Amino acid sequence: MCGIIAYTGKRQAAGILYEGLTRLEYRGYDSAGIALSGGQRICCVKRAGRVSAIADALTMPGNCGIGHTRWATHGGAEDKNAHPHVCGKFAVVHNGIIENYMRLKAELADMGHVFSSDTDSETAAHLLEAYYRGDLLEAVQKTVRELEGSFALCLLCADYPDRVVCVRQKSPLIVGAGADGMLAASDIPALGACKKIRVLSDGEIALLSPEGAEFFDFSLSSLPAAFTDNAVRSVAVEKGRYAHFMRKEIGEEGRAVRDTARAFDGREGARLAADAGLFSRIYIAACGTAYHSALTGASLLEEALRVPVTAETAGEFCCRRPLLGRDTLVLAVSQSGETADTLAAGRLAKKRGARLAVLTNAGYSTLARLADYRFLTYAGVEVGVAATKTYAAQLAFFYALAAFLRGGRAAFLEKFPAVHKKLLREEGRIRRLAADVASARGVYFIGRGADYPSALEGSLKLREVSYLPGAGYAAGELKHGSIALLDETAVVVAVVTQKRLKEKSKNAVCEVRSRGAKVIAVTPFSDVPADAVLPLPPCPQRYYPLASEVPLQLLAYHTALARGLDPDRPRNLAKSVTVE
Ligand code: AGP
Repeated sequence: MCGIIAYTGKRQAAGILYEGLTRLEYRGYDSAGIALSGGQRICCVKRAGRVSAIADALTMPGNCGIGHTRWATHGGAEDKNAHPHVCGKFAVVHNGIIENYMRLKAELADMGHVFSSDTDSETAAHLLEAYYRGDLLEAVQKTVRELEGSFALCLLCADYPDRVVCVRQKSPLIVGAGADGMLAASDIPALGACKKIRVLSDGEIALLSPEGAEFFDFSLSSLPAAFTDNAVRSVAVEKGRYAHFMRKEIGEEGRAVRDTARAFDGREGARLAADAGLFSRIYIAACGTAYHSALTGASLLEEALRVPVTAETAGEFCCRRPLLGRDTLVLAVSQSGETADTLAAGRLAKKRGARLAVLTNAGYSTLARLADYRFLTYAGVEVGVAATKTYAAQLAFFYALAAFLRGGRAAFLEKFPAVHKKLLREEGRIRRLAADVASARGVYFIGRGADYPSALEGSLKLREVSYLPGAGYAAGELKHGSIALLDETAVVVAVVTQKRLKEKSKNAVCEVRSRGAKVIAVTPFSDVPADAVLPLPPCPQRYYPLASEVPLQLLAYHTALARGLDPDRPRNLAKSVTVE
């Protein structure tokens, strides 16, 4: 949700910032901008659109600058709302929401400040200019004391042409030390070749110079530099032979599942198992796709531990005052580890005395650092906005943890790469079906029991990349109202993998076909009375959620292509939702 980056060093800054922004674009692509300082003035290029819209910024000379890629919150996706925001000697990029910006803006306007955007972020640039009396850090300190809400800021001051100040409060920011200069960015993939990194904590300021970085708290007391090795450094984030990251990442699911199973942290698992007797209830809190993996995880953990386990969307979890105490475990699931609602759920759990377990794909993330028990998925960096391989890896983790808690191993996960290969061989059939799905007026997904989370996730995937209206339903619920949506213009995707529920699921398929809707069944069975079938290879019953997601993701991908859309950059979305 907005990506910010900064560089100061020996090289030309524009190219480094531009390249970094392309790696942060998954955080928002409503506008982009770069500002460089040098020669007592600040030059800025910014525009609505993707990073490629500011390619002319590459010609700007200078060794120190900041950049931004935006997911619009306050103010539309227009040139005037693009960052950096420049006021007098200052230029600022911001990720987060400045909650008290209306009051600040009114006060600054009374002092004669003229605003040129509708954003909350611009207030930071004006505050800096208002407080500046020649001492950069003093102006920064006074400014951050005024700001409420969440903010990661990188800022330039024309009087300090080779310095960048970085500030973190509830939005991620990481400083990287490169061979020829210092960087800061919202996420590690943008830190390129930096061998050393330092993840800023809330309430910290970093002053970057070409030679290094100094760190302070908001009272301007010095903090230790404490850089650590950058483990993500060599990760390739290229599309390779694929047209889109989404398709490439679906293709990586076999490996992601196997790697997550192999790297399951038995020591952390044993600590959790040893404490399990303390917990009389477990909540799993997550958003979007991670919530769907949590639904499957809740069933697996409840069966393994024999205590009530409930999956909840993290936003609602915080709103509804759940029962939390020393006898409660909250497991927060987030591929990014930066999702604001999931972080809020984790913080609420800790505040109320519960223990917090975390499952994330980003070991350096804010959520990971809150954890009492920390578990990782090993999906690798996921660039596509639609979560695919991280969903598979989250499911793999839940299978591995549940098996571990029962004293065994989830041996099937080792075999999943071979099953995954077979599933990919059906892509031609899926592509042909997608052409029909693309012209439907509504697409609905149904499933029972273990297939219900798969239906929800299949529907989310299709909606987010194809923009086709639809929803996922528990198959038995459809007839309690939503069946009214169905006619010949609708497609229903029925996930039918569970032997003991097969006859009931077949009934649901008949009910929707008799309303004229076309049914696509995702199933290993040969007797589901559908119009078309996406066949699943044989798997142990409990593992079908892993298998059924592959054709559902491919269906979403090819439907987006059939509708002429870019599945890697769905409209209105950002991969990492760092505002509540
Ligand atoms: C799904 O394709 C989306 N990217 C979205 O639902 C995502 O899963 C959700 O925003 C949670 O993200 P997180 O796992 O990083 O917390």
